[in-house]
Amino acid sequence: MRRKVTVIGAGNVGATTAQRIVEKELADVVLVDVVDGVPQGKGLDMYQSGAVEGFDMKIVGSNAYEETEGSDLCIMTAGLARKPGMSRDDLLKKNEEIVADCIAKVTRYSRDLTIVVVTNPLDAMCEVARRVSKLPKNKVVGMAGILDSARMRAFIAMEMNVSMANIHATVLGGHGDTMVPLPRYTTVAGVPITELLTPERVAAIVKRTAGGGAEIVNFLKTGSAYYAPSAAAVEMADAIFNDKKKILPCAAYLEGEYGINGLYVGVPVVLGKDGVEKIIELKLTPEEAAALKKSADSVAELCGLLTC
Ligand code: LAC
Repeated sequence: MRRKVTVIGAGNVGATTAQRIVEKELADVVLVDVVDGVPQGKGLDMYQSGAVEGFDMKIVGSNAYEETEGSDLCIMTAGLARKPGMSRDDLLKKNEEIVADCIAKVTRYSRDLTIVVVTNPLDAMCEVARRVSKLPKNKVVGMAGILDSARMRAFIAMEMNVSMANIHATVLGGHGDTMVPLPRYTTVAGVPITELLTPERVAAIVKRTAGGGAEIVNFLKTGSAYYAPSAAAVEMADAIFNDKKKILPCAAYLEGEYGINGLYVGVPVVLGKDGVEKIIELKLTPEEAAALKKSADSVAELCGLLTC
């Protein structure tokens, strides 16, 4: 059976996500954007690339939502991107409007779908999508932890000159400056990096990971990262469609787990056909728990500003 994904936003993140999905033959894609011609043009261009790349998925672009009917998954990427000097939180008001509008429209045409939110500020935008869609909490999940831990893995690989495939990184918390990379649960071939690197090098990697998005924004100047964010979103789509039960760090709605209630925060989850099938609670030291609480507090503060 063919599966269908609506990717909302035909900018760099959305278009790259759509491309990865069709190239992996995960699903047919409807690419939606408000800008006249852009989703249509990118969609047609991508579809034509299938003749060379050898994929047979359908991809169309649209400014409206009729064609999204019957989607199994929505990947929400539309929104303003950060400019240098802007925090993810500066985007809150404008992107709340955009996410609320798009999610209301997509759920009008597809009721039985899972939503993966990518728009920043990520954790608060997940909450907007949950409230507006009225879907159960397991069906609305945010992409951030895979990206943040991919960055941490990359920095460790650079430091140690080993394959990223051997590195597992754990990052908890909101997708913002207060995120909580956990060196104790970050391993190279099963050995924690705290046993392999000096505390100074570990601290430098943690700091670079937390600033990983801003580092790219400062290079690009006119936008934010999209290759790694799209790869992360597509890993989630694959886990959901293929019911992989992959344990991945994602923004999930917590109701008491980690002592956090009624908030989206990044935690390890089991991702499968029902979306977030389980939340995994790691044992934290008092310092790690305090850092996670601080991160959750900053998500709560933003959610307090939402008007939906
Ligand atoms: C980043 C943006 C997408 O971390 O939040 O690159």
